[in-house]
Amino acid sequence: MQNFEITVRPMEIGDYDEIFAMWQITSKRALSQADSRENILRYLERNPGMSQVALADGKIVGTVLCGHDGRRGFIHHMAVLPEYRRHQIGMKMAKRAISTLAEAGIDKTHIFCYIDNSLGHSFWNAMGWKKRDDIDVFSCFNVIE
Ligand SMILES: CC(C)(COP(=O)(O)OP(=O)(O)OC[C@H]1O[C@@H](n2cnc3c(N)ncnc32)[C@H](O)[C@@H]1OP(=O)(O)O)[C@@H](O)C(=O)NCCC(=O)NCCS
Repeated sequence: MQNFEITVRPMEIGDYDEIFAMWQITSKRALSQADSRENILRYLERNPGMSQVALADGKIVGTVLCGHDGRRGFIHHMAVLPEYRRHQIGMKMAKRAISTLAEAGIDKTHIFCYIDNSLGHSFWNAMGWKKRDDIDVFSCFNVIE
């Protein structure tokens, strides 16, 4: 039985130290230089009100980064602290994030999920998302030529 109250609100750059500490527990493999304070600030400014945090017991217990590139939505760092999982916190944050994208006129959203991340796969399946078998992800480091 859940004995804590959950609040979901937009992420602010002032949350950075707390969320970065949380990601060391929940999302270490997915962290990179892209998650520096400067880059997260830029992300939040480019996508106002879309990324969310969940609060319980006076602390941040969940995060989702959410934004779009003008045509498609993207979600990163969907995470909930282990001791707060299976209380619909992830689902509440995801729904809030997707709703902000819909309000912005973005009708489809993608997430990158590691192939062996069974938690992520169970969660996104439960959310009704469809795993794509027709796409591979190609990545590169950008250089000025
Ligand atoms: C994935 C994650 C964010 C889910 O957060 P959560 O708050 O526990 O998820 P919810 O309680 O909203 O779960 C919603 C539904 O997803 C499914 N689900 C979630 N966790 C599950 C698990 N461990 N096993 C099976 N199904 C699961 C269930 O259907 C669940 O509904 P139910 O509890 O009524 O059965 C959390 O497990 C997490 O932080 N994992 C580590 C980081 C990560 O891998 N993130 C995903 C990146 S793609």
